[in-house]
Amino acid sequence: MSTTRPDVDRPVDIDIDIGVVGAGYVGLTTAAGMAHLGHRVTAVDVDAQRVDALRHGQMPLREPELDDTVRRENSAGRLRFDENLGSLRTARVVFVAVPTPQSASGAADLEAVFATVRALGDILEPGSVIVAKSTVPVGTTRRCAEVVAHRGLKLVTNPEFLREGHTLEDFLAPDRIVVGSDDEVSAWIVADLYAPLSAPVYFTSPESAELAKYTSNAMLALRLSFVNELAELCDRVGADIRDVTHCVGADSRIGPAFLAPGPGWGGSCLPKDTAALLHTATGAGVQMRVLDAAVAANREQPARVVAAIAEAVTGSPDGCLAGTDLALLGLTFKAGTADRRDSPALTVARALADSGAHLCGYDPADPDGTGAPIAGLVSVPDPYAAAERADALVVLTEWPQFAELDWARLAGAVKHRTVVDTRNIIDLKSCLAHGFSVASNGIGSRAAYGHP
Ligand code: NAD
Ligand code: UGA
Repeated sequence: MSTTRPDVDRPVDIDIDIGVVGAGYVGLTTAAGMAHLGHRVTAVDVDAQRVDALRHGQMPLREPELDDTVRRENSAGRLRFDENLGSLRTARVVFVAVPTPQSASGAADLEAVFATVRALGDILEPGSVIVAKSTVPVGTTRRCAEVVAHRGLKLVTNPEFLREGHTLEDFLAPDRIVVGSDDEVSAWIVADLYAPLSAPVYFTSPESAELAKYTSNAMLALRLSFVNELAELCDRVGADIRDVTHCVGADSRIGPAFLAPGPGWGGSCLPKDTAALLHTATGAGVQMRVLDAAVAANREQPARVVAAIAEAVTGSPDGCLAGTDLALLGLTFKAGTADRRDSPALTVARALADSGAHLCGYDPADPDGTGAPIAGLVSVPDPYAAAERADALVVLTEWPQFAELDWARLAGAVKHRTVVDTRNIIDLKSCLAHGFSVASNGIGSRAAYGHP
């Protein structure tokens, strides 16, 4: 692997057209970000409604700064939208940012990636570069390269590490840019597009780049499953997970990020990418016991939350929740996004609905309370309406708004003053001062918080 420019005789050509296929979290951010860096970009999406909305300055995603950047770059003529791949005919570099969802076997479904690469093979000029931006399993980039080699097209993989809720910020200030290719000239064409960012660029083989992407997400998942189990241990032995992780995270070899317990890790990527990595490992004859265990622990985490709710409401983890009224605060898979794909909050909600509880939910990303994410859950426009006559409040997402809740107002609204805070986000002092009993996540003895 190298991080320095090789001494190659490469064409320096920055005045090129760029294409992006797929205008979702990654594609739209890449398109807007590249336009912001001064490139001419056309973003193509099969969803004609999405394309039409984007042309009219309407955003299909809730992401800070992205809407302003899209509108600005669109008005400046650097960013266009189209539903036809044919509009990319003059593009010299095309990023493929289409979905790679989990298939029934656990493997990544690569249908959209291969369909896009094949179609690009029919229209791009020889010498153009197709960039796999989607998260794809080891070997995919090389297989894509074989599909279009006869047309003189090159393949590079450039995995994306951005987080939802911070997509543009992460695009503009990445920890690293990974470029995987066997072809130095193509690799540098892609790396040079990011030159204004002055970020470190790691050049690797396509296989290493592909595996680095999956390993990053798997490493985050491992940490979170471990910390969720640790929180349970803290509850049993009277330790405080916040203090434990604070002390542990101060070690510069470990670091403080991704050490907050919750109802499980979810979202559109960590679950599918860990499943895909396990599938790859099995196919290669490698047993990944550690990752396997992390995934299994995460699968069990929502049941642990349901047991904690049952214990808080009935006094027993096996207690019957049928007919109870529960207010769910937070429905997205994490704070700062409107995305509910694979949200642990909804997994918990489904289990509670199945047990016969009546659910009223509030999420700051749905301020009108119009979303109806699952059967048996009524959405409302504010947390106080959700709390009306509730037997318990259950905090499932770490929205900062939940640290500011008015506990005097909530005390007047609920039927019983019981809180289960899976994210340790509420103002515990104020909550306790207003007579609530609180089941936190790993903050020591529940009895200490007035629990029966
Ligand atoms: P997304 O669901 O937000 O958006 C995908 C877009 O692609 C949609 O607008 C869809 O209409 C469009 N599309 C689907 N098939 C198409 C086709 N054949 N041609 C043109 N457009 C098509 O997806 P996303 O979250 O941006 O994820 C895309 C890829 O990036 C996935 O491989 C994912 O694993 C990876 N990734 C996602 C994130 C993230 O935070 N969401 C971060 C890093 C990597
Ligand atoms: C994740 C990675 O962080 C990105 O680097 C990666 O690019 C992306 O997946 C991807 O490949 O799609 P994202 O899906 O936006 O980004 O979500 P994260 O911020 O990683 O959170 C994942 C889950 O972990 C959420 O459910 C979140 O609530 C949970 N989490 C996170 C915790 O429970 N505790 C923490 O301390 C941090």
